[in-house]
Amino acid sequence: MGSVTERLDPFSDGLDRAADLLQQGRLVAFPTETVYGLGADARQGAAVARIFEAKGRPRFNPLIVHVADLDTALRYGRFDTDALALADAFWPGPLTLVVPLRPDAGLSPLVSAGLETVGLRVPRGDVAQALLHRFDGPIAAPSANPSGKISPTQAEHVLEGLDGRIAAVLAGGAAEVGLESTIIGCFDHPRLLRPGGLPTEAIEAALGRPLAHAPVGETPNAPGQLASHYAPDASVRLNAEVVAPDEFLLGFGPDATGAALNLSVSGDLVEAAANLFDYLRRADLLARGRIAVSPIPETGLGRAINDRLTRAAAPRP
Ligand code: TXA
Ligand code: MG
Repeated sequence: MGSVTERLDPFSDGLDRAADLLQQGRLVAFPTETVYGLGADARQGAAVARIFEAKGRPRFNPLIVHVADLDTALRYGRFDTDALALADAFWPGPLTLVVPLRPDAGLSPLVSAGLETVGLRVPRGDVAQALLHRFDGPIAAPSANPSGKISPTQAEHVLEGLDGRIAAVLAGGAAEVGLESTIIGCFDHPRLLRPGGLPTEAIEAALGRPLAHAPVGETPNAPGQLASHYAPDASVRLNAEVVAPDEFLLGFGPDATGAALNLSVSGDLVEAAANLFDYLRRADLLARGRIAVSPIPETGLGRAINDRLTRAAAPRP
């Protein structure tokens, strides 16, 4: 934080530098044809956690994973006939497909917020394509603006919001579409999850039938749906200073001695965020019905971690 954000030109040296920074787990904003994205290596949990930290996002919602082409996307997600038809018709382009996550994908669970689906997109912007080819890996990227602010369509907008909070911005000119991608869920009947830069009429024409519209409250980024998706089988008790003999302690910080799983022994919130979804799953397997979680400070990423834990601890329907 507070360090200098490099402004990179979208040519050979700048692209190499951007790819290097991503490899190092740093954040690089880059232009796509829709809006500027705030990119991190989707395989590195701590890098993905830094996206939420830099944006000041109060909760972990799933991020879109950007890849160079359909072949690469097939490594991360399972595509049914509809998903393949849409990818074929509109990739590269302003379309995100939410498909079942392959268990062997190797993506950080934070990318999909612990869900068993993943949002994938092949952007068509020249600079985005060039960066994906240099980096040769999956780039997780939400829009490159502080949480709650307007999405950036120019490098200058990115710097207005995030200067000093990210490693670099690839300055590639104005985004052509200026509107986020249209998001279609392809895990049952294809459904519209978010309207965006690709008109739904074109999508329905390619599918040869109408889209289902996800009723309000059923999109996975709405709190209600996430709550049910996220709940471990075990009960969850928060802010546990003392642990009962029949409880499994999911620890945080140096004071949580004896915790079989500690989100971050040193009390680092970036590390804790990166471990959160994986450790919750593991705790659920190891616990005999009851999980207790150490107190997590309500600062920085701690707010998003506590939001997630609060929903895991909420009464079950
Ligand atoms: O055009 C765009 O889509 C831009 C550029 C950078 O690609 N990105 C973007 O990301 O708008 P973001 O984080 O602002 O929006 C991502 C949204 C999430 O809020 C969620 O609604 C949806 O994508 N999403 C991603 N993965 C999902 C999943 N597994 N299940 C449901 N929704 C998902
Ligand atoms: Mg956004």
